[in-house]
Amino acid sequence: MISNNLRKAREYEEKYETVIKEEDRPAFHLSPRVGWMNDPNGFSFFDGKYHMFYQYYPYESKWGPMHWGHAVSEDMLHWKYLPAAIAPDTEADMVGCFSGSAVDMGDGRHMLLYTGVTREGFEDYRDKLLGYESGDIQIQCVAIGDGVNYTKYDTNPVIDSSMLPDGCSKLDFRDPKVWKNSDGTYNCVVGNRPADGSGQILLFTSADGIKWNFKSILIKNECRYGTMWECPDFFELDGEWVLLTSPTEMVASGLEYCSGSGTLCLIGDYDETAGKFTDRSNQSIEYGIDFYAPQTILTADGRRVMIGWMQSWGTLDIKDSSEPWFGQMTIPRELSVKNGRLYQWPAKEVESMRTGKTEYRGVSFEDILKLDGVSGRQVDMEVVVRPEDIDSYGGFEIRFAQDDNFYTSVIYDASDSVMKIDRSHSGCRGDITNQRICSIGSECLSELKLRIILDRFSAEVFINGGEKAMTITMYTEQSADDISFVASGRVNIDVVKYDLK
Ligand code: FRU
Repeated sequence: MISNNLRKAREYEEKYETVIKEEDRPAFHLSPRVGWMNDPNGFSFFDGKYHMFYQYYPYESKWGPMHWGHAVSEDMLHWKYLPAAIAPDTEADMVGCFSGSAVDMGDGRHMLLYTGVTREGFEDYRDKLLGYESGDIQIQCVAIGDGVNYTKYDTNPVIDSSMLPDGCSKLDFRDPKVWKNSDGTYNCVVGNRPADGSGQILLFTSADGIKWNFKSILIKNECRYGTMWECPDFFELDGEWVLLTSPTEMVASGLEYCSGSGTLCLIGDYDETAGKFTDRSNQSIEYGIDFYAPQTILTADGRRVMIGWMQSWGTLDIKDSSEPWFGQMTIPRELSVKNGRLYQWPAKEVESMRTGKTEYRGVSFEDILKLDGVSGRQVDMEVVVRPEDIDSYGGFEIRFAQDDNFYTSVIYDASDSVMKIDRSHSGCRGDITNQRICSIGSECLSELKLRIILDRFSAEVFINGGEKAMTITMYTEQSADDISFVASGRVNIDVVKYDLK
């Protein structure tokens, strides 16, 4: 039996998805079936497929009472929509089903662990969709299903405020990320706000995924990076422990962190017995404009793959809210730790979409260059740039999504060793952030390596073998599909470009 709210959402999405033409959506980035999408939720492998759920409000292209949308894929690039998985419809989640995660229970059951947002007086509100209010309480809930239909656990919540140590906020307690241990037990990390008003990550343990115990405060922010830490993820990778989280209200710091909603990767040591993580290094996960709240999975072949919300809370005006869909996910990115830093690279599945190779080696030029066959809006392109004379080399720019009026670009400034991504000329009418800069290694002076993945409405740039990534969305007309290269000083470049199908 499904609730009225879920039934309405499923009927609505089935009816209104038809207003969105396929060519008006990204080709291989997941977008909402209709309406609004934010964080990736429940990214998991179950019953032979990758599952991606997402924060979803089908009825408008703006944030509203949160449902979970649902899609499945064999390659994390081509997604098939399934009916909305859960809607706010019980006492524990009447205000919204906020972010969470999913796990294969190993016995044919797929478990969702999510944040229910609730308020006193369920009977008064049953079947209504409520707006979030600042006094609403956040608790953790379970729904179990077969990969399509999910039943909420009768006695949700499974983790409530009474389990929190003194000083932990009941109002900011969300986004559980669950994983199963090799002995069959479960752990989850949850974002929380302690008395100092900043963030912390709590660790819980469970024998069966349903009955949970508080284990420890995994790590405290202590007002170092933003305030509340949202959407944590915690895993071991290449012999290091890695915590990913998305802090709110960041204050800009050098070129590493920007103000507003940010992303944070801490690498350090984990004392499993005590449940304590101590960070040794910190960095942004991403250096572009549109990236937030990523979630990872461990694939069957042992890869740690991450997908993020390809949007930022600060730049919602990039798109007109009267359009029938808003929000996209990034491509899947394979993570690694090298020399104490997090690297990311397009997952190998992207390569199987490549067609139509165009290749140039050792092209020498200065000023502006266009190359035959190098254009398009669904592109995977690798570029290597070597200056012919380092002393007179000022830098290098790639312009894409270009026509007579518009372009978006990545610009390397050789004198400062910085990379800028810039969509100031991509036709956006909103007064939003259009540029971002990050520092890159000095070795890029003699050889700069870039890989750029373009889809209809986005660009993802991987610098220096994935040492840094910069992502933006852009909504220029698809006919703006030129690509050009601009060099200050004579350079010698290699370009290998594929179309992505
Ligand atoms: C992050 C976030 C989460 C929350 C969800 C609500 O973008 O604020 O913390 O669960 O979005 O939609």
